[in-house]
Amino acid sequence: MTAVGESTAMGWQPVGLTQHADRACLAAPLDVWWWPERLLPPIAARRQRTDTLLRTLLAPYVGLPPAALRFGRETHGRPFLLHAGAPDFNLSDTAGGAVVAIAAQGRVGVDVECVERALPVARLAARWFAREEAQALQKLDAEPARCAFLRLWTAKEAACKATGSGIFGFLSAWRFEVDATDADPRLASLPADVGADTRWRFHRLDPSGSHTLVVALRDLSDPPRCFVVTG
Ligand SMILES: CC(C)(COP(=O)(O)OP(=O)(O)OC[C@H]1O[C@@H](n2cnc3c(N)ncnc32)[C@H](O)[C@@H]1OP(=O)(O)O)[C@@H](O)C(=O)NCCC(=O)NCCS
Repeated sequence: MTAVGESTAMGWQPVGLTQHADRACLAAPLDVWWWPERLLPPIAARRQRTDTLLRTLLAPYVGLPPAALRFGRETHGRPFLLHAGAPDFNLSDTAGGAVVAIAAQGRVGVDVECVERALPVARLAARWFAREEAQALQKLDAEPARCAFLRLWTAKEAACKATGSGIFGFLSAWRFEVDATDADPRLASLPADVGADTRWRFHRLDPSGSHTLVVALRDLSDPPRCFVVTG
């Protein structure tokens, strides 16, 4: 049986890490990497594991060995590379795997969730979402409402991660069309201080058949290249 996050979804190119290290990556406008949990570095502490993962994936983009990379953190914890001309990046992990989005310009945010996740939809939507979104979810049957909730959540969290604001106080200000399908998120309204809506793009991707993820981008309109780590 295939474990959560194991299967390779359509459109995701398998890449071994040795091959990755040899790639001429710098010209890519937007790369999205899915790293299945089974292949993650065998390090118990989560923060150390994600540090290793980021160094491995980002090093060829910067042109330095993994150990030479230096990171800073914005006020609310968003990490960034301290090297001149380095790409922007963002990471999200969940049961089954981790995703890293790497953007040559602008700002990128990413959020991944397991599609089977059970959720108290009405309670969470009333707490975190815009009134219009909570009301639209209430009109749906339980399963479409759960799917639509997860899709809204990933879009909102990816947007918050692109700005670096954190989610508290910002999830309801990022409003999206309520949609239970795997279409790209459609923005309905956005916070006042994040730039015009025309600067924003959102891509929904399915890295494994068991997950859904959103990449949010400001000032980058290129489509993503999607890669899955094969070991
Ligand atoms: C960013 C945030 C949405 C991540 O939520 P999550 O679902 O737990 O985690 P994900 O797996 O999607 O992402 C975690 C990764 O996002 C990145 N990240 C951390 N803070 C971030 C931020 N503010 N914006 C964007 N990305 C951030 C890091 O790479 C982090 O991995 P790490 O924990 O190994 O450093 C959430 O932690 C948050 O709102 N943080 C802000 C906290 C805050 O405002 N603190 C104020 C300072 S006191």
